[in-house]
Amino acid sequence: MADVHAKIPLTGGSDFWHTPAIPEADLPELMWTDGPHGVRKQSGSTDHVGINSSEPATCFPPAVGLASSWNPGLLERVGVALGEECRALGVGVLLGPGMNIKRSPLCGRNFEYFAEDPFVAGELASALVRGIQSQGVGTSLKHFAVNNQETDRMRRDSQVDERTLREIYLRGFGKVVLSAQPWTVMCSYNRVNGTFASENHWLLTEVLRDEWGFEGVVVSDWGAVWDRVRALKAGLDLEMPANRTHEDGVREALAAGGIDEATIDRAFGRIERIVRRAAASLADAPDSFDVAGHHALARATAEQCIVLLANDGVLPLARETTVAVVGEFARTPRYQGAGSSRVNPTRLDNALDAIAALVGHEVPFAPGFATAAGQELPADAREQAVAVAKDADVVLAFLGLGENHESEGYDREHADLPEEQLTLLEDILAVNPNVVVVLSNGASVLLPFADRVRAIVEGWLLGQAGGGALADVLYGVVNPSGKLTETIPHRLADVPSYLYFPGDDSGVRYGEGLFVGYRGYDALGTDVAFPFGHGLSYTTFAYSDLSVTATDGGLSVAVTVTNTGSRAGREVVQAYASIAGSKVVRVPRELKGFASVTLEPGASARVEIAIPAAELAFWSVQDHAWVVEGGEYTVEVGSSSRDLRLSGTVAVAGDEPFRPLTLASTVAEGMSVPAFAEVVGRMAGDAFGSDPDLMKMMESMPLAALAGFSGQSPRQLQALLDHVNAVRQAAQG
Ligand code: GLC
Repeated sequence: MADVHAKIPLTGGSDFWHTPAIPEADLPELMWTDGPHGVRKQSGSTDHVGINSSEPATCFPPAVGLASSWNPGLLERVGVALGEECRALGVGVLLGPGMNIKRSPLCGRNFEYFAEDPFVAGELASALVRGIQSQGVGTSLKHFAVNNQETDRMRRDSQVDERTLREIYLRGFGKVVLSAQPWTVMCSYNRVNGTFASENHWLLTEVLRDEWGFEGVVVSDWGAVWDRVRALKAGLDLEMPANRTHEDGVREALAAGGIDEATIDRAFGRIERIVRRAAASLADAPDSFDVAGHHALARATAEQCIVLLANDGVLPLARETTVAVVGEFARTPRYQGAGSSRVNPTRLDNALDAIAALVGHEVPFAPGFATAAGQELPADAREQAVAVAKDADVVLAFLGLGENHESEGYDREHADLPEEQLTLLEDILAVNPNVVVVLSNGASVLLPFADRVRAIVEGWLLGQAGGGALADVLYGVVNPSGKLTETIPHRLADVPSYLYFPGDDSGVRYGEGLFVGYRGYDALGTDVAFPFGHGLSYTTFAYSDLSVTATDGGLSVAVTVTNTGSRAGREVVQAYASIAGSKVVRVPRELKGFASVTLEPGASARVEIAIPAAELAFWSVQDHAWVVEGGEYTVEVGSSSRDLRLSGTVAVAGDEPFRPLTLASTVAEGMSVPAFAEVVGRMAGDAFGSDPDLMKMMESMPLAALAGFSGQSPRQLQALLDHVNAVRQAAQG
């Protein structure tokens, strides 16, 4: 086996995309590359921001689209296809999925992430990881952690309180590690509460490994390591890309006793295990993949990612309806995000051609506005668009964000659509009120026109086959079933993180705490344009017969869903949980389960959702542990977070740890213990008389203070407390 000096090179890349061969260990080099929604294999010049070209691969919908399907089974199938393409292209680890929480619609990289909610993000990322890794290809769960903006992303300090960090920003990652065992986790660029993620021992070792049992490789984001010795000691294993200076630094530190051999051996062993696993899978890999089959999967996937936000019945269109199509996005689709995830698609469908194919003839079209920098348009582009729109039965206005409006590497300045698009829409509405807006965007945009157009189709970014999927939805070949995994607000100032995002050189404070996304809008009672979980269908669904029962493992929820419309459709049933009278701060409700059901007209089905007890737990800062609070839980089920059709309650025993009464316990806490209430009452009477109003005022007084006021000696009181605690603990068992 190689000696420690021969192992050091494996703690870093040999170039931009490979870990080095280690001849002394008979270890081959291995290629690690992006992801997440397609394979970006560069053979010539390399970069980590998607500038140089890459080999053709299927461009599936980025996470913003995939997430809107709420379909783990579908994402697992996409993962299998991604794994197949990795093998055919000789890639051992695919750098994805990205699953950072969408804290603000302004984050330039929201297109690459799943949701504003850790539950749905964790469920969907786990499915992708399972699918990819089923093919003997590794994944890299990223960016660990609290990387929720692009502004100053390589330095900024994400400052998050303990409970918020646990319940919102780490919870989804933990679910994926525990349920899908990603081969690798990619640490983020930013600081987490003062320490760079790449050298954050608490994050990379105490949480990721000691608590979650992660056994894979921690790889850095590209260029995220400031000091490889500090990083290795914190629990990072692999610095990417190559950095010879840092490699020399490890040699020097080893010679000087600044790092021990065991640390290097540990990193080497973890990486070696991954490399051997991947190499074995690549050894008999085919040299091609099913291009047509994967494109068909990309199409079928995109169809489930489209969210019908609003529809007055104008959709689905009849083929004989005369339409005019306005907007370059219809001809030149925006189908993925800019930056490291940019894929070179095997083919690219556009909606304009797909519509023409559906209706059997060309349809009037005008680009209307530029969608990319430097795009040449006729001087009268706007007039042409209005002229085209004027006489149509229905105008399909393809609006959205161009690649330079949102990207990895920088955040948006505002959440509006580009001014020239809004102006053109007004001009079109002035001559024709029958407008359907079709959106292409990687993050929520404000929709001030929502009540003045006849329908809005949120297409997000749909990958290479999205154009055909959009046409199928517009004409009813496909019944849309996508649901939002991020709220669309009326105003940017309504976003709970608005006052804190993106911070400044002193850091970015997550001042909204737990109240991110729908958790915040619901707590503040803020009206929103379209809520988390929202998505319409061309049919309707009724909910009945809800049952919520406690089981040994948690809660069992069942509800009957009936298709009350005239066409088949898929409904994503969502289950939200809350607890009344909690002892800790709570958000109004949280998503704790979901399930899809596809029904023919008039058909019904019993939909069952299991909510594990662990999902009900909150992070107790007092105990630094997950705790299920005992009490009465309410489970609400429905079609969105604000279209909750039925609710039920159930008592849950909880697993709160025994908390002894102490001198710092309050009067109220003392009174809540029957064996002690009389003592507290007597002390209070001695001190302040038994005026009930006064008692109310004293509820938050520590017992030590009450002892002082009532002349009780703290030692006597402590002896009494010890006795009461012993009796309580015995009774609790
Ligand atoms: C980029 C991204 C990361 C990507 C890596 C390699 O900076 O942050 O997601 O996998 O570098 O391109």
